[in-house]
Amino acid sequence: MNLLVTTYIVPEYLKKLEKMFDHVRCEGMMKLGRVLTEDELIAALKDIDVILIEFDPLTRKVLDASPSLKVIASVRGGAHANVDVACATEKKIPILYCPGRNGDTVADFTLGLMIALARGIAAGHHQIMNNVITDTKTHDQNGFCAIDVNWVGQTPEKFAYLQFKGPTLAGKRLGLVGLGAIGREVAKRAVAFDMEIIAYDPFVKPELVPSFVRMSDLDGLLNNCDFISIHLPVTKDTRGLLSASKLKLMKPNAYFINTARAAVLDYDQLITMLQNNQIAGAALDVYPSEPLPPDHPLLKLNNVVLTPHIGGCSLDPYVRSYQMLVEDLENVFSGKKPVRLYNPSIYAG
Ligand SMILES: NC(=O)c1ccc[n+]([C@@H]2O[C@H](COP(=O)([O-])OP(=O)(O)OC[C@H]3O[C@@H](n4cnc5c(N)ncnc54)[C@H](O)[C@@H]3O)[C@@H](O)[C@H]2O)c1
Repeated sequence: MNLLVTTYIVPEYLKKLEKMFDHVRCEGMMKLGRVLTEDELIAALKDIDVILIEFDPLTRKVLDASPSLKVIASVRGGAHANVDVACATEKKIPILYCPGRNGDTVADFTLGLMIALARGIAAGHHQIMNNVITDTKTHDQNGFCAIDVNWVGQTPEKFAYLQFKGPTLAGKRLGLVGLGAIGREVAKRAVAFDMEIIAYDPFVKPELVPSFVRMSDLDGLLNNCDFISIHLPVTKDTRGLLSASKLKLMKPNAYFINTARAAVLDYDQLITMLQNNQIAGAALDVYPSEPLPPDHPLLKLNNVVLTPHIGGCSLDPYVRSYQMLVEDLENVFSGKKPVRLYNPSIYAG
């Protein structure tokens, strides 16, 4: 059996995979430092039985040209973004995947965004880097000062301490839209910050809802929360779920955080509300088009924190992904049904 790995491989798991397979070939990320094109993937897949993949385009064209392929193993929490799931399913190729692999990673990032936004961490950094608040009057030029910092007579534009008066998290209400792998990890962290947590998720199993989370309807959540954080997948039901009329329900002092996907909300409405200070601010990791074009209206706002879709980016989730995938590859090879199968219909019957 031959394995092709096109993504980052954890060294410890490379050794395990080398024992499981006759040949392991690394291409793409580990060899070229980039995602492969369709044609490169077709060439790399010659005589390959199993592919371990992250971003490379396993399209119908690639799958049609790769008759030896028997198993797709994706290190991602979902496979549809770069794998033609319908085509793989038609060909009876199981797609193994890694749900919840980066719940804690995105949750850390979400809390980071909340604090960076509300407390001016990102804006303060930006001010220092751009010399906006550099002012000799705030320094003791002689290395000695009778009081610890000389802030006498400073005006707000030079004196950051007068500008950033955002809320402390303790005692504030956090609304989580989606209480899946990431939403629940955010809740765990937020409760440690003494936040009150409410969530909207009609589909979460009751036994998975932490005791400190109160469930709500969407309107009630939007109406009543100080921080609102989105953790939804894009489905036909969630696309545009946070419509203009829903977003208008937010309080004027509310902060909005989106690390999920742009398609679940009306970005134009969100931008209008930020431009008119109808909410306190937004921290966004995902956008209708990525990267953001240089003239995008979000880039003109000072009540936002913008990151370039990096919420899930950390090496730790790879270790978890490899744990899951190695276990499920062993299941497949021993004739058992894999635990994490993206196209379960191929095992039906
Ligand atoms: N920014 C990043 O780098 C990054 C990284 C990882 C994941 N994500 C995104 O985060 C999102 C959530 O990921 P996850 O791992 O928590 O997913 P998940 O599948 O574990 O959880 C999603 C939750 O949404 C709920 N849900 C589904 N439809 C709903 C609806 N109509 N109304 C309300 N709730 C609904 C589900 O019941 C589930 O509990 C995904 O969109 C994913 O793409 C972003």
